[in-house]
Amino acid sequence: MSSVAFDEASRVLASVRDVVAERPGGADPPAWCERRGWTPFLAALSPDEVQRAELDGLAAHVASFPGAPADLVDLARAVVALTTLPTVDAMATADVDPRRASPRKRSQVAAFAALVGRVGVSPSRVVDLGSGHGHLTRHLAGALGVEAEGWERDAARVAVAAALARDGGARFVTLDARDAAGALRSTDLVVGLHACGALGDLAVRAAGAAGAAVAVVGCCLQKREGDREPLVVPSGMTAAELTLGRSVLGLGNARDGDDGVEEDLATRTTARVHRMALRAALLAHGMEIGAGEEMRGVNRRRASGSLDALVASACALRGVAPPTVAAIAEAGRWAAETYEGVRRWSLPRTMVARLVEVWVALDRAAWLSSAGYASEVVRAFDASLSPRNVAVLGRPM
Ligand SMILES: C[S@@+](CC[C@H](N)C(=O)[O-])C[C@H]1O[C@@H](n2cnc3c(N)ncnc32)[C@H](O)[C@@H]1O
Repeated sequence: MSSVAFDEASRVLASVRDVVAERPGGADPPAWCERRGWTPFLAALSPDEVQRAELDGLAAHVASFPGAPADLVDLARAVVALTTLPTVDAMATADVDPRRASPRKRSQVAAFAALVGRVGVSPSRVVDLGSGHGHLTRHLAGALGVEAEGWERDAARVAVAAALARDGGARFVTLDARDAAGALRSTDLVVGLHACGALGDLAVRAAGAAGAAVAVVGCCLQKREGDREPLVVPSGMTAAELTLGRSVLGLGNARDGDDGVEEDLATRTTARVHRMALRAALLAHGMEIGAGEEMRGVNRRRASGSLDALVASACALRGVAPPTVAAIAEAGRWAAETYEGVRRWSLPRTMVARLVEVWVALDRAAWLSSAGYASEVVRAFDASLSPRNVAVLGRPM
């Protein structure tokens, strides 16, 4: 991977730290919007322009919107340039075992096999970290004709994977990858499909420590304990400039569902209004909720269902009795009114969401390069299969 792309992405990310750090949450524009002089432009966008920017991303339209600030247009260009990744030709899905696998998962698995071809090694074993139901593990065992193991910490998923592999081909172990990194060998290929949270970093570092090849597609970067510190700091920058908190890492899911099933705009809008209402209801109920933490532990799909049920489940998780129906309705009214401003102020922040996700992958690839690997960041498959589609590939040299 060229260190120029990583250095440039790091510089652009650091330049928008204020934008990613402050999430628009009220009728008033965030401080970064005011400071950068973007408020009048965003406030003057017509409802049609707002909708087009929400559907296609602000970067696709900002240059053609009247009165667009020059620095916002420049930022859009930089984000597009840095997040447009090389693609890898996908393979047919016909030979991916359909048992318990959705058509989307089968296509992702088939595309992953093409990624492995691009890594260009002949491993003696495949180790799939966070193997879930083992679709990728079993497929690679057959496609590469090698021993394959799935290391997965969730015992119920391991049981399903083992049952599906009863006729041989792959082996599954209940194991937290954090405890098993030392068991990797230099002749392994370490893979991870939707290796969530810190697992993507772990996979890259564990492979690097063993000298093994690696191919990892990450997801849900915010599902981790604590902030994410950079693996590599470009010269002239500090680790603090590139340390990202969970609410920033969660931005990667700003436009789409966390396992790749993209919802339509109306559903996403309902979910956002309900999240704002949830936060308002919990705060008014005297609860302390950190920025972006209102949905912690709650399945994100619940946000597009009933607001009463959403508030009830968030309270139950925290062991608190829910607010009254009237208080929840009041929070709902406030959120619906306030969202009209929030959706405008959110456009620049959502625009840099993909940069956060791609930058994390570039950071992983830069770390591999520093460990003597040939590394690259590619788009693993089309966003319609899953928008969490950024792959880090590494081959020891
Ligand atoms: C989003 S799922 C993906 C599952 C599978 N790779 C797939 O694509 O269908 C992520 C999986 O990683 C597992 N996982 C997360 N952190 C882990 C760790 N430290 N060690 C082992 N498994 C982990 C989770 O339990 C979950 O099954």
